[in-house]
Amino acid sequence: MSSEPAILPRHVAIIMDGNGRWAKKRHLPREAGHVAGVAAVRETVRAAVDIGLENLTLFAFSSENWKRPKAEVGALMGLFRRYFNSDMNELVEKGCRIRIIGHRGRVAGDIHGMIEDAEKRSAGNKGLNLTFAFDYGAQEEIASAARELARAARDGRLDPETITPELFASRLFTSALPEPDLIIRTSGERRLSNFLLWQSAYAELLFLDVLWPDFGRAQLAKALETFAQRERRFGALNAEAVA
Ligand code: FPP
Repeated sequence: MSSEPAILPRHVAIIMDGNGRWAKKRHLPREAGHVAGVAAVRETVRAAVDIGLENLTLFAFSSENWKRPKAEVGALMGLFRRYFNSDMNELVEKGCRIRIIGHRGRVAGDIHGMIEDAEKRSAGNKGLNLTFAFDYGAQEEIASAARELARAARDGRLDPETITPELFASRLFTSALPEPDLIIRTSGERRLSNFLLWQSAYAELLFLDVLWPDFGRAQLAKALETFAQRERRFGALNAEAVA
């Protein structure tokens, strides 16, 4: 596409927030907001494929979301089922490589099966790396990586002195992905809510006032333009300051 910004982030991650408020504004039940949220997921993924983005990670369900009323959790699970059933063929055909990061052990058996099937079917694909954070919490992810390294050290398989940030990162769910360059959160809230805490060390953060169901192709393009204008220094000085 001709209107693409010059500097594309390699990895965009999105905290999709505001489904409930979108529904409330319309005097609809919260579930209607999630249904509209799925449509926004569909449009955003298609746009990411068209733009040629390498990695897109979507925060679909947090470990803390289990605390929501049973009926809402049930409705969300139903939507994931339907989304995977209806969109998987298209995603695979478009070359997307699907990954799920998160706990896995706590989701219903059929959803677990769908996740594994999607990953298997798309494993050889070379297009968009599409990752869903599902029953995901960053603190638990970090604790789990620490546990694994501690076990290896206890068993004499690892010298603790050799633990580097790179080694640690290789034990995270995201080991196959580059760190996110851009993290977008919709709905006006300004926090990371336990999403990619390790991986976001140098990410540009973009907080948008738009509610998730209103996000789509145009908002993604705008976010990428904003990213292209940001100056990233990774702790160093910019070229002007050095000269
Ligand atoms: C936040 O809105 C959104 C969620 C808890 C779930 C995100 C789920 C979707 C976008 C739909 C399904 C996704 C896939 C991948 C099929 P909220 O309910 O917290 O909104 P609120 O803060 O306004 O109440």
